[in-house]
Amino acid sequence: MPSHEVADLSLAEAGSARIAWAEGQMPVLAQVRERFAAERPLRDIRLAVCLHVTAETANLVATLIAGGAQVALCSANPLSAQDDVAAALVSAHGVEVHATRGEDIAAYTRHVHAVLDTNPHVTIDDGADLLATAHERGGPALETIIGGTEETTTGLVRLRRLEAAGKLRCPVLAVNEARTERALNDRHGTGQSALDGIVRASNVLLAGQTVVVLGYGWAGQGIAERARGAGAAVIVCEVDPLRALEARMAGYEVMRALEAAGRGDIFITVTGSVRVLRAAHFERMKDGAILANAGHFDVELDLDELAAQATDIRPVRPLVDQYELADGRRLHLLAQGRVVNLAAAEGHPAAVMDVSFALQALCAEELVRLRGAVAPAVLPVPNRIDVEVGRLKLAALGVAIDEQSDEQREYRQSWM
Ligand SMILES: NC(=O)c1ccc[n+]([C@@H]2O[C@H](COP(=O)([O-])OP(=O)(O)OC[C@H]3O[C@@H](n4cnc5c(N)ncnc54)[C@H](O)[C@@H]3O)[C@@H](O)[C@H]2O)c1
Repeated sequence: MPSHEVADLSLAEAGSARIAWAEGQMPVLAQVRERFAAERPLRDIRLAVCLHVTAETANLVATLIAGGAQVALCSANPLSAQDDVAAALVSAHGVEVHATRGEDIAAYTRHVHAVLDTNPHVTIDDGADLLATAHERGGPALETIIGGTEETTTGLVRLRRLEAAGKLRCPVLAVNEARTERALNDRHGTGQSALDGIVRASNVLLAGQTVVVLGYGWAGQGIAERARGAGAAVIVCEVDPLRALEARMAGYEVMRALEAAGRGDIFITVTGSVRVLRAAHFERMKDGAILANAGHFDVELDLDELAAQATDIRPVRPLVDQYELADGRRLHLLAQGRVVNLAAAEGHPAAVMDVSFALQALCAEELVRLRGAVAPAVLPVPNRIDVEVGRLKLAALGVAIDEQSDEQREYRQSWM
C-alpha cells in the first residue's frame, strides 16, 4: 500500500465504478495511454499532481502510470476531492494520494508538502500550488523539477508573476491556453455545465426566459450559445468594445448592465472581475429573478449589498437562497454566488476533461523530452501537441477531414 492520507479506503469499489464510467467518455486519453504503455516515455519519472481528485483525474493518473511514471497526487481545492476516487486510486492503482474532501487549510498544505516530499521531476498543477510551494521551499523539492504544466488561468497569473520577478526556476507549459483547451473546456465545458448547475439548482425551464450573460469571453460565449440553443432570449453585457461587437454580430442584444437588470429572468456573471452586479442592479430586477456566478471567485455578485437590501433571507431549495427586498420583490441567489457549475453540478463533463488531460499527459512527455534544453519561462503548448489532440478527438468522434495537397501548401506559402 503506498503512502496515503484519504478519508476511507472502503469506498474504493464505488470509486472504481466512477472511474470506469468517466473512462468510457475519454477516448483521446485512452489513445494516449495505449501509446504510453507501448513506449513508456515517462519511465523513471516522478510526477507530482495537484488537480481536483475526480474520476477524470484518476484516468489521467492511470495514463501517466502507463507511461512509466511514479505518481503522487493531492487535491487542487480543499472541497473538490471525491473520497471514493481517492480510495480507489490508493487501493486499486497503488497511487500515493493525499486528499480528503473538506480538508482544512492545514491539511491541504500538509498534503501539498507531502507530494513535494517525493522530489518530483515534473509537476502538474491547477492553480500553481505545487510550483509556488516548491519555489518557497527551495532545496531538493525544487532542484529535481525539470518542468511543470498549469491547468488554469489563476495559476498562470501566479507563475507569470514569479517569472517577471526573475524567480521562476523551471519551464512551465500553459495548458490552459492551448487552442484545443480553449475550444473545448471554456466554451463547451463551462457553457453546458454552468446551465446544468442553474437548472439542477432551480429546475427552471430555460426556453422563454431572458438570460443575461455578463462577460462575453471564452466562457461567456459558451454560456450565451447554450442558453440560446435552449430557447432563451440572451442579452450580453460587456466592457470590451470588441467582445461587445462580436456578441452583437452573433445576434445577441447588447446593452449596459443597468438596462439589462430590468429585463433579465436569469443573470450569469462570468467576467473574472469584481462587483459586476451591485445594489443599483438589484434595485431594478424583476420579482423572481435568478442570480448565478460562473466566474472563478465568488466576488462577481456583491452579496453584501444584496444582503443589505434584503428584509429576509431564507433557503427555499438546496442551493437556492431567497432574498426578499423591502418592496416585496424576491431575488434568488444560486450556490451562494460560488462557481455554479462546480457548486451545483459536476463541473466539466468527462468528454471535455478528455482533451485537457490528453494535453496534460502529452505536455508532461514533452517536458521530459526537452529536459534541460529550455530556459525557465511560462511557455505555450507546442502547436504540434495541440494539433495532435485535435486530431485524436476528431478521430474519436469518427470525423475525417481533408489534407492540403502539395500544390495547395505551396500556393498558400508563396507571396506572389
Ligand atoms: N466555471 C468554469 O468552469 C470556468 C471555466 C473557465 C473560466 N472560468 C472563469 O470565468 C471567468 C471568465 O473567464 P474567461 O476565460 O471567459 O475570461 P475572458 O477574459 O476571456 O473573458 C472575460 C470577459 O469579461 C469581460 N468583463 C470584464 N469585466 C466586466 C464587467 N464589469 N462587465 C461585463 N463584462 C466584463 C471582459 O471584457 C472579457 O471579455 C474567469 O473568472 C475564469 O476563471 C470559469
